[in-house]
Amino acid sequence: MSDPTSTTSFLPLDVLFNNPLFAGGIGLAGLGAAAALARRSAIKGASLIKRRLLADVEISKQDASYPWILAWLALPRPPGGFVTSKLTRIHQFSMKTMAGAVPNKPKHTQFFLQPGYGRHIIRHNNAYISVNREKQSTANHTTGEPHEIITLTSLYAQRHIFEDIFGEAHQLAISAHEGKTMMFASRGMDWEQFGDARKKRPLQSVILDKGVKERIVGDVKDFLQRQNWYVDRGIPYRRGYLLYGPPGSGKSSFIQALAGELDFGVSIINLSERGINDDKLAYLFTKIPARTILLLEDADAAFINRRKPDAEGYSGANVTFSGLLNALDGVAAGEERIAFLTTNHIDRLDEALIRPGRVDVTVRIGETTRYQAAEMWNRFYGDIDHDGNGRKRFLDKLVELDLIPNESGVVKPKLHTSAAAIQGLFLFNKDNMEGAIEMAEGLIPRIYEPEPQKGIKVSA
Ligand SMILES: Nc1ncnc2c1ncn2[C@@H]1O[C@H](COP(=O)(O)OP(=O)(O)OP(=O)(O)O)[C@@H](O)[C@H]1O
Ligand SMILES: [Mg+2]
Repeated sequence: MSDPTSTTSFLPLDVLFNNPLFAGGIGLAGLGAAAALARRSAIKGASLIKRRLLADVEISKQDASYPWILAWLALPRPPGGFVTSKLTRIHQFSMKTMAGAVPNKPKHTQFFLQPGYGRHIIRHNNAYISVNREKQSTANHTTGEPHEIITLTSLYAQRHIFEDIFGEAHQLAISAHEGKTMMFASRGMDWEQFGDARKKRPLQSVILDKGVKERIVGDVKDFLQRQNWYVDRGIPYRRGYLLYGPPGSGKSSFIQALAGELDFGVSIINLSERGINDDKLAYLFTKIPARTILLLEDADAAFINRRKPDAEGYSGANVTFSGLLNALDGVAAGEERIAFLTTNHIDRLDEALIRPGRVDVTVRIGETTRYQAAEMWNRFYGDIDHDGNGRKRFLDKLVELDLIPNESGVVKPKLHTSAAAIQGLFLFNKDNMEGAIEMAEGLIPRIYEPEPQKGIKVSA
């Protein structure tokens, strides 16, 4: 016998399932759930496949390779004779403008297209690579610039292509800087490349008094070969040089040329820069860019017009004397370093700065000597003054003007001139040596300098 209550309890369900509307609804819901499940598994599967099959490389803007990779990505190359872009599918570019000097053109500007932000696909050696350049939501504390990364993705099986790309990009960067000197400047708490790499200045183009240049270059080269000697003896591998003398005598030019000769860059700190203080200076000294000469121009500037420390000992945003000494050889000072300090006023520097370990070699780059004047003449007019007659008349004129000693060197001149002034005179009279001789009066300085002291002092 059937139970009437149970019959009644089944009846509505039957009715329900027999109802085409309800059955259709259930069917749809089931389909929806199945689709959602499938979608979720597909996403999981895709990310699994992605993890197993793809390889990613992230390059942050802070990394030295970032600009190389950008430059490599923008490189045009000629497949089959056609100059087309390596970027097979990049449609969005951003512009990079570089101004530079080109002979016979007053101003020259170069434009580079580089991949813009977003995702791009490129092909390299038959491998497809996805390039994603993006700005991040975090920013550099000191400059406020957002962090940036480039992510390169390729098939896992083709991951070796990355080594290839980085190798090529590095080579490209090296060849772009060949024959050039990179300059770095402090920006906030960081070092940044300062302007475009400059063409190397040849060492022969800086004319110092006889033997001076050779002596300094020899000393630096000797230092560079002696790293083990320093390490074995537990001495920090550092050497400091101080070049002092009147303006326009070639101090900065020489350091620039020396960097080129050694294939080094130059890292410049301006001690009188606003915002620089002892802590920043010490920090910057610990992370000087590799293979660069540290250049502290106008080393005396940090000590003049300095504010007196307030009650808390704070002396404003300036470097203090002890701050500079500590940066140069305190415990936190970087282990490896070549530093050059320049000043026009050695008398304003403290003895403590010029002690070995901080400054090991002190050289006066003084007023132009007879030797320098003759050498500069040769560089400018050597090819037209074949018999040296022009040079003789020029030097005689300088003796007459009391700017250089006579040939025997007995009579000391009362006036002095700078190499910068001679360069200016020769530049004004390009290919016209008679004009240069005629206008030599212009070399007489309007401001009289005290009697120069000569010499190179090498300590330790
Ligand atoms: N000894 C030199 N040989 C060749 N060129 C020189 C020499 N001295 C100066 N010059 C030229 O004069 C200009 C100024 O020189 P530089 O800036 O090197 O002088 P400086 O000694 O650093 O002066 P300051 O003390 O004012 O910084 C440059 O264009 C440089 O080419
Ligand atoms: Mg200078």
